[in-house]
Amino acid sequence: MKFMNDFKYLKPSFKKIAPQIFTILIIVVLLSLCALVPPYYSKLIFDDGVVGKDEGKILLYGGLAILFFFISLVLEFLSKTLFTITSNRFIVDVKGNVLNRLMIMPMAFFDTKQSGYLHSRINEVNSLSAMFSPTIFSFISSIIQFTGAFIIMFNISKTITFIMLCFIPVFYLIASQMSKALKRSSRQLMEMNAKTSGNLQESISSISDLKQFNSQEKNSKKLIKQFQDVAKKRILQSIFLSVGTQLLKFFSSAAGIIVLIISGIFIVKGELSLGDYVALAGYSGMLFVPVQLFGTFSLTIQPALVSLSRLRVIFDNKTEEELWGKKEFKGIENKIEFKNISFAYKDEEENIIKNVFDNINFKIEKGKCFSLFGRNGTGKSTLMKLLLGFYPDYTGKILIDGVELHDYDINSVREKIGIVSQSIMLFSGTAYENLNIAKDGLTAEELNHAWKISGCSNLFKEDMRNIMIIEGGKNLSGGQKQAIAIARCLLKNSDIIIFDEATAHLDVNTKDIVIDSFVNYFQGKTRVIISHDKELDSISDKSFAL
Ligand SMILES: Nc1ncnc2c1ncn2[C@@H]1O[C@H](COP(=O)(O)OP(=O)(O)O)[C@@H](O)[C@H]1O
Ligand SMILES: [Mg+2]
Repeated sequence: MKFMNDFKYLKPSFKKIAPQIFTILIIVVLLSLCALVPPYYSKLIFDDGVVGKDEGKILLYGGLAILFFFISLVLEFLSKTLFTITSNRFIVDVKGNVLNRLMIMPMAFFDTKQSGYLHSRINEVNSLSAMFSPTIFSFISSIIQFTGAFIIMFNISKTITFIMLCFIPVFYLIASQMSKALKRSSRQLMEMNAKTSGNLQESISSISDLKQFNSQEKNSKKLIKQFQDVAKKRILQSIFLSVGTQLLKFFSSAAGIIVLIISGIFIVKGELSLGDYVALAGYSGMLFVPVQLFGTFSLTIQPALVSLSRLRVIFDNKTEEELWGKKEFKGIENKIEFKNISFAYKDEEENIIKNVFDNINFKIEKGKCFSLFGRNGTGKSTLMKLLLGFYPDYTGKILIDGVELHDYDINSVREKIGIVSQSIMLFSGTAYENLNIAKDGLTAEELNHAWKISGCSNLFKEDMRNIMIIEGGKNLSGGQKQAIAIARCLLKNSDIIIFDEATAHLDVNTKDIVIDSFVNYFQGKTRVIISHDKELDSISDKSFAL
């Protein structure tokens, strides 16, 4: 039972809803007991009322049966409502946990997966609500009813009870076959869905390149083929389900008729009363409900179990917290040393996809401006990503003031580093809002100052509050994006500043403003300039070529 192990991911969320589940269970037990009463009253109506010709008894037992029906109805309403509330709370909680965990996964985890794929993985959590489906709740009550019905029936007629029990393996066989097949196909369906949504998201975000290469149509064809494959699988699944459900219905009706036939013969022989038949007919259905539900139960719960096992990807991979140490980084005191650093990018199966560098050695000293030079693809950006702790599995040592990076709480290191990266992502909203995420409580004066010395005022005519930015900054020019990123970095005012080809898209005029402020504004801070040209060499104290 591998899935039992997966329940550990849900334990914290289950704990929160434990009181509600307990209440639901009590209601379900009461409900099942109530359901056992009416068939018995029906028997009494026939045997004591009809046969005994006592109208008073007919009315009394009839009234009581109605009362119990009504109580069951109220209890059912209560339990279902409570179920819905609890299941929704539970799902939100699990989704939150999955999201929190996802956010602290290392970069290598994201490198190997499409974002749409992960998105769809989070949405799959919704399938977990099947754990709270009415089927589960009926399953519990049906077991109680089964026990009660069995005892009462056994007392009325051992033969009929025995014949009815013979049907149970048939129901079980159909149900278990259905659930096996469904488990297989739901896993395949979920994976297909996640992949398709990954591809879809990628197509939309790279639409301009698709258009430029005139390959929208080819791409759409590929996607539509994937939609069709998903649909085919769905149709097959649904046909299979229908056949199974119909078979189950057939056998339960057949069993009902068999009770009627045998009871009929027994009544003719005088071995059974009419009331006994009415009771047997009422209870015999209850014998099959658990097995029948067991079929639907495993069917309903299957998608939940599958999606639960798929959460392993997120819960079983190590998070950044687990990969890094606890020591808080309070700011650089002396130097950062890269000692015999080697690094390779790896895929999901840990196979090397790109050996970036071997045995690199250099030092970045406190308060100095250090520059890293090298052609495209030599690994300059990668070196800075290592410093930011994006990829923990390098060999060699990155020492900050003599302490290995792995011993630090990586968030405290990132906190002290300001970076203008090569691939700038701005958030949807105004430029003003984008600057404000740099630090809490920035004053208008600080914002305006940064706007000016980053070259933004040179590139934008509008007020920063009126500049709307769409999705990552796709409505801005490369240079404008860079200038905003530089302003944001200036405002964060970190201990260590990294400019990764931060001026590559700026015009000469703006570039001069930025370089000027880089020299003056960041004077005394530890600075790293990454560039593929030697133009910026003049402002650095020390350089290293890759
Ligand atoms: N996430 C990644 N997965 C695999 N390979 C990568 C990844 N990022 C960069 N690379 C490869 O690593 C090499 C170094 O990249 P990078 O550090 O960005 O170079 P630079 O900044 O010097 O231009 C390149 O060959 C690039 O193709
Ligand atoms: Mg780079």
